Amino acid sequence: MSHIPSTARPSWSSRVAVGVRLFVERIFLRRKLDQVVRTLGGHIYFQTLTAAVRLDLFTRLTEKGPMTRGEIANELGLEEKPIRILLLGLVALGFLRKRGNRYAPESLATRLFSRSSPDNITAIVEWQHFINYRALYHFESAIRANRNVGLEEFPGTEPTLYERLAHAPELEDIFQRAMQAISRQANDWLARYVDFSDVQLLVDVGGGNGANIVRLARANPTLRALVFDSPSVCEIARANIASEKLEDRLDAVAGNCFVDPFPAGVDCILFCHFFTIWSEDRNRELLRKAHAALPPGGTVMLFNMMQDDDETGPLTAAMGSPYFLTLATGEGMLYTWSEYETWVREAGFSAVYRRAFARNHGAIIGVK
Ligand SMILES: C[S@@+](CC[C@H](N)C(=O)[O-])C[C@H]1O[C@@H](n2cnc3c(N)ncnc32)[C@H](O)[C@@H]1O
Repeated sequence: MSHIPSTARPSWSSRVAVGVRLFVERIFLRRKLDQVVRTLGGHIYFQTLTAAVRLDLFTRLTEKGPMTRGEIANELGLEEKPIRILLLGLVALGFLRKRGNRYAPESLATRLFSRSSPDNITAIVEWQHFINYRALYHFESAIRANRNVGLEEFPGTEPTLYERLAHAPELEDIFQRAMQAISRQANDWLARYVDFSDVQLLVDVGGGNGANIVRLARANPTLRALVFDSPSVCEIARANIASEKLEDRLDAVAGNCFVDPFPAGVDCILFCHFFTIWSEDRNRELLRKAHAALPPGGTVMLFNMMQDDDETGPLTAAMGSPYFLTLATGEGMLYTWSEYETWVREAGFSAVYRRAFARNHGAIIGVK
């Protein structure tokens, strides 16, 4: 029998103490500890996902079937050691599963991260990576200064991300593709579950690349609609409208909604993922301006993710709000349902409705 030195022989009492501690951690604290690890390593886990998306790993595994580590490295033309580290992260995070020595994507990962899936959110991953990730390093400074300190990461002198993106067409394109991915499902709900049959001319304020009005026009054959956005974004919107062959009913009008009047003759003003950008005061100002511009019976519609009225979540509101403070404008956040309703009423709209959709999205509709 080999001799074990006394320093390596734990006492009975210390073995019991360690055993109790392990038992408590495994049984009672596991979920909470996992939550701490996921938060502490959030930046690393996000980069693990980003690397896999940028290497198109989910698409390749979805299309070619399960592969071994060596086959994956070969397929990507990369060394096996770093691929091993990447695969460890993806399996631990639950994006891939390992059966024997082969790796395959979990079904949710296929749906969300394989570029061949119609529901993929790879554009959102790229937006988070190329635009938000650097900026959010400055969250603490933004809290202290109460302004969007993270904007300093981007060239230009303008006060909002939207204006600065005009200096960087590549980033503007990444941004607009992400907005389209966020809106794709959301505007589908809007088109399906909100009645636009009485609307003659709709303006989508901050309507981006036109994805919303294209979807609404497809669902409502007589609807005419406009995007109202900055000149560079209107160019993107016009190109999309043309490629959808909807120029006879859709167009884009360049303007700044705080300075320029809304386009004339509209009877529905839509603010889609827009009120989260601005302060309470600016949102109230926009609602008063919308009320003044609409004819009697006209409607204003706010559509975005909502914060719970009791201010306890959801996680999507907790994730989105720091972005608006630290980067986008320094003044917005995801407000609660009841804040929006109060502002719409205060602006003079008589009937105010609330409609809830999936994934914490909702619409507030006010009728003049
Ligand atoms: C968060 S994106 C939302 C895009 C689109 N509404 C959607 O749902 O996907 C905000 C949009 O508002 C535009 N925007 C920002 N400030 C604006 C202003 N003052 N007037 C008009 N558009 C503005 C930006 O260019 C951008 O396209």
